[in-house]
Amino acid sequence: MSIKSDKIWMDGRLVNFEDANVHVLTHTLHYGYGAFEGIRAYRREDGQSHILRLQEHIKRLFESAHILGLKIPFTPADLIEACVITLRANNFDWGYLRPLVFMGSETMGLGATGNTIHVAIPSWQWGAYLGSEALKNGIRATVSSFSRSHINANMVKGKICGQYVNSVIAKRDAMTAGYDEAIMLDTNGYVSECTGENIFVVKNQKLITPPYGSSILGGITRQSVIDIAHDLGVTVEERTMTRDELYVADEIFLCGTAAEVTPVREIDGRDIGPGRPGEISSMIASTYFDIVKGSSPAHPEWRYPYSLA
Ligand SMILES: Cc1ncc(COP(=O)(O)O)c(C=O)c1O
Repeated sequence: MSIKSDKIWMDGRLVNFEDANVHVLTHTLHYGYGAFEGIRAYRREDGQSHILRLQEHIKRLFESAHILGLKIPFTPADLIEACVITLRANNFDWGYLRPLVFMGSETMGLGATGNTIHVAIPSWQWGAYLGSEALKNGIRATVSSFSRSHINANMVKGKICGQYVNSVIAKRDAMTAGYDEAIMLDTNGYVSECTGENIFVVKNQKLITPPYGSSILGGITRQSVIDIAHDLGVTVEERTMTRDELYVADEIFLCGTAAEVTPVREIDGRDIGPGRPGEISSMIASTYFDIVKGSSPAHPEWRYPYSLA
């Protein structure tokens, strides 16, 4: 998978991939004080391309910056337009966008407040984040020994650059142990989320997921899954859950922009249900993919259409 593209949008203009560089004293590079988004664009069966839930992603980017007290020098409408410009400039009728807000290199130190604020929007064509095999047969996950950050240590409702050290350390640890993904518990021991995905359990035909007010990122895909479940008449319970509820779940799946809807077939050496994707997970996944890639007319408000011309 190549992360190369022709052009990257930087601070209001398109620059060549090779020229999208920053100084080594870029503040965010040192301390992680910045914010980002991950957004997918899809091409549907009828050939129409769209950016999935673009307005919600840009809204969350502004919220993340607001949490940090960073003023983005563009409007949400500017950045929505910039996402389309970026995809067009690269001739991408599907792909992944990674808007990034970061502090410039004028001064260093933790107390720096006057640095310029920059926005870059790279894009590339990213296939299935955990692999196409994962979407079909499910992944193997482990409960991480690293906790998801305490809600008062990191600002969990922000997609904030430096906070991802917590995710990367858990992900690398899980992969070293031979698993595909890590499931993280909060500092009270309750199930939180994965390193870059929210988690859903299916038990007795119901969906259960940790509540928005816990240590999770408010996933946009999580909300899409909840909406799809309601459309399908499946009950969703948002509540805390314990680690062993995972082990005795009928089905489990993860969801996120990158990971889409990925079933979990095993956790810590224990089969989940029959050890393959279950009926409700498969129904949610196929409905999701039909909306984003197929021909379902449902939820047109999630799709921001664009064309390459
Ligand atoms: C920690 C974390 N949780 C959950 C998600 C899923 O969020 P979304 O569905 O908005 O991509 C992400 C991905 O952005 C994430 O980084």
